Amino acid sequence: MKSEDDAKHLPQTTLDPGDWSAFRTRAHAMLDAAIDKMERAGDGPVWTPVDDDLKRQLATGLPVKGRGVDAADDAIRSLLPHGVGNTHPRFFGWVHGSGTPANLIADIAAAALNANAGGRDHAAIQVERQLIGWMRDLFSFPETANGLVTTGTSMATISALKAARARATDLADRTSGIANTRLVGYTSAEAHACNARAFDMLGLGTDALRRIPTDDAFRIDTAALQTVIDADRAAGLQPFAIIGTAGTVNTGAIDDLPALAAIAARENIWFHIDGAFAASGIMSDRLRPKLAGIELADSIAFDFHKWCHVNYDAGFVLVREGDWLRSAFTTRPDYLQPKQRGLAAGEPWPVEFGPELSRGFRALKVWAHFQEFGTKRLGASISANCDLIEQLAALVDADPLLQRLAPVQTSICCFRYQPHDIDPAHLDAINDEIVIRLQETGIAAPSTTWLNGKLAIRVNITNHRTRPSDLTVLIDAIHALAPKAIADVTGRLESE
Ligand SMILES: Cc1ncc(COP(=O)(O)O)c(C=O)c1O
Repeated sequence: MKSEDDAKHLPQTTLDPGDWSAFRTRAHAMLDAAIDKMERAGDGPVWTPVDDDLKRQLATGLPVKGRGVDAADDAIRSLLPHGVGNTHPRFFGWVHGSGTPANLIADIAAAALNANAGGRDHAAIQVERQLIGWMRDLFSFPETANGLVTTGTSMATISALKAARARATDLADRTSGIANTRLVGYTSAEAHACNARAFDMLGLGTDALRRIPTDDAFRIDTAALQTVIDADRAAGLQPFAIIGTAGTVNTGAIDDLPALAAIAARENIWFHIDGAFAASGIMSDRLRPKLAGIELADSIAFDFHKWCHVNYDAGFVLVREGDWLRSAFTTRPDYLQPKQRGLAAGEPWPVEFGPELSRGFRALKVWAHFQEFGTKRLGASISANCDLIEQLAALVDADPLLQRLAPVQTSICCFRYQPHDIDPAHLDAINDEIVIRLQETGIAAPSTTWLNGKLAIRVNITNHRTRPSDLTVLIDAIHALAPKAIADVTGRLESE
């Protein structure tokens, strides 16, 4: 029962709504706007840049006096048209997942629970633990495996390599640092930049990550890897990690994982796999055979927000001997000591497996996603993308004005527009211009990369909304935009 004092105190201090019924109406309206956005994901341009009006609004100062419900909701609503475009069926850039409307529901529940999933004994901890068990099963890892939901693969990579560093130094790194070590690791020249960044952040330095050349299909050259390891050992260095990639960001190549596992086992080196997007292919009948060997890794870093389509953000680190992950991070100061009973029970706490103490209930949307769709349907959606990317490669191969620059191995097709009568020195700039025009017209949004010194139009399909007709729209648009792109680039380069 509220006292008189309470009645005077509450309206001034609480941030809860004064009128719950009005709040329901307001929340339902925003939910409708969000559902509209997803229902019409394929309408209109892929990308709608932030306009000048909105830019001006987004440059105003910190509100001291709140602007109220309507202004706050209008401000949120004004952002909805200006996403990166990855909910659209013709978003083909970088590697983005396309999300689901169902995730809105889990995010509402997560916000209502407002759980701190760093530890203690509550539902969020149990849910994440169940998810960890599911991932252990999905990748055929042993009972000893453990893991953690992360923001993405970058954070998962840092966590996994910290566990690898802990094993290599027998935990001395945690107290004495690594100044007296000579740790080195290995990955391919095509590996994602997050691996070098992890070396940087872990104090190893990016030079300590050796970039091994790749073969014609952009997979690590395992013979060259062995040669570099031998040379490093002879020079008194301490090889501690081999990073294989299951799905490189440039071309989608999958390294020879069994061969890497064999080298790592022989050399007693931690075998980590960056499976940011393609590790999800373990659910797909099309991709599973190509991922053979992933079950041999000491650790895997991957994302749910890419080919699994959980809405941003959610990644995962899975470590075969989970105790290494725990001992790499665990700290339980006095006020966080474990208890047998009460709210501080529920061992082990996620905080012991990663760098963050306070963590949101990110696991809920992932867990709900698997509950709703199951691995079979998620895998079928991935297989359908594999079919589409092969269809695109066939269209490219049949087109005399397009040239493919890499084999298709997972979700990526790299090619370029290459008419015979154009100065080859202009082709990089022309293809860059075509991609920018595709984005600016809003017809489609591929991105670019460089392969063997050539700028490529890079189409990645990790998009459950893409249909075969979207591929013809893309190819037709390239042809339609090319003449203007050629004229602009030729004019610009010739006047320089
Ligand atoms: C192969 C690969 N590794 C790592 C990453 C980084 O993942 P995240 O952006 O989730 O940190 C990406 C992102 O595209 C990737 O493609």
